[in-house]
Amino acid sequence: MKAEAPSQAADKVGRHELIALLNEDLAREYQAIISYVVYSQVLKGAEFMNIAAELEKHAAEELSHALMISNQIDYLGGMPVVQPKPVRTSEKAREMLRFDLINEGETIRNYRERVRQCEQLGEYAMAEHIREILMDEQDHQIALATALGEDVPVVKDSPNAAAKKA
Ligand SMILES: [Fe+2]
Ligand SMILES: [Fe+2]
Repeated sequence: MKAEAPSQAADKVGRHELIALLNEDLAREYQAIISYVVYSQVLKGAEFMNIAAELEKHAAEELSHALMISNQIDYLGGMPVVQPKPVRTSEKAREMLRFDLINEGETIRNYRERVRQCEQLGEYAMAEHIREILMDEQDHQIALATALGEDVPVVKDSPNAAAKKA
């Protein structure tokens, strides 16, 4: 029997699984709100003044993402979670930015997967909403990498998805 195209097989989920995955996304959005609220206020040093103001904008954008994801979970008949993913803290500005950069990468990887999963389920409008969120997350990633003086990291598919594809 001929197997399905690998990327399709790896991305296929049911509606219940999609609700659970969106709740993971929501917990990541809460995490992002909290870290941007705190980091934007405690980031010290002249070199980081611009990025501190930028992080404050990120906080507001993450809140709008959380609302959007909650709305999609409700639409699917699920109950939005109330617990954030753990937020790491540091006294060091560069470390704070590093944590955010790592989290944004994880978020982008997940939303790219989510777009494919939504489309597999025929949830095209949902996929579109998530694409819009993705554009913001990529902007966040660029802002953080730039503040750290680094290239924007390449986001790879999860090892899980890769394993399923193999
Ligand atoms: Fe977000
Ligand atoms: Fe973000």
